[in-house]
Amino acid sequence: MKAIELLLQRQSTPVLTEPAPSDTDLTTLLAAGMRVPDHAGLKPWHFHVISGQGLQRLSDLYVEATTNDMAIKAGLIEGTSIDEHASIEKMAKVAKMPFRAPMIIVISTKYIEHNKVPQQEQLVATGCCAHAMQMAAFSLGYGAMWRTGDLAYNETVKQGLGLEEGNDIAGFLYIGTPTKAPHIKPAKSYQDKVTYWE
Ligand SMILES: Cc1cc2nc3c(=O)[nH]c(=O)nc-3n(C[C@H](O)[C@H](O)[C@H](O)COP(=O)(O)O)c2cc1C
Repeated sequence: MKAIELLLQRQSTPVLTEPAPSDTDLTTLLAAGMRVPDHAGLKPWHFHVISGQGLQRLSDLYVEATTNDMAIKAGLIEGTSIDEHASIEKMAKVAKMPFRAPMIIVISTKYIEHNKVPQQEQLVATGCCAHAMQMAAFSLGYGAMWRTGDLAYNETVKQGLGLEEGNDIAGFLYIGTPTKAPHIKPAKSYQDKVTYWE
């Protein structure tokens, strides 16, 4: 596929199955992630590649984070207690999340103090890593979906992954093989998104 076709036809594939990227293809994805625009060459990001037993580890971390969250909420709001039924349902839901694909790359920041490069720019560059890896995955015939959700902003999850304080998860890139050929979505109009100064 030509680069321009990839750019104009990119779309997410939420339903993913085995196989995950091979070791060789994974190195290509990671290399694409490293190739993004990067002010001052800070490389202010980190990638966790999660597959196999690692998915269960992430699932356990999600359950722990959700348990902590519920306990905090119940403690903070006077007169509330943990609703057992809702809690069981929620735990089952979060526990399943990592198994939506055979591989997840967690793309997080590793902010670096720099007088010309604010954190905002470093976060944008980190987001570019997720995009680049998604595009690389498509070009190699895999499917991918960029997700966040509450757990991307959860301190227990960030700590469990070893993020240093104050850093951010830009996304969980779910990668695998699409279960069916995607129905190509129509292009979005750019007319009301562009201003021309001529
Ligand atoms: C930072 C970021 C976080 C996202 N988080 C989620 C998410 O948690 N759940 C979700 O369904 N889509 C999420 N999306 C959107 C999907 O990745 C996807 O772009 C969207 O479903 C539209 O589909 P498309 O990529 O085929 O246009 C997120 C996108 C970005 C850029």
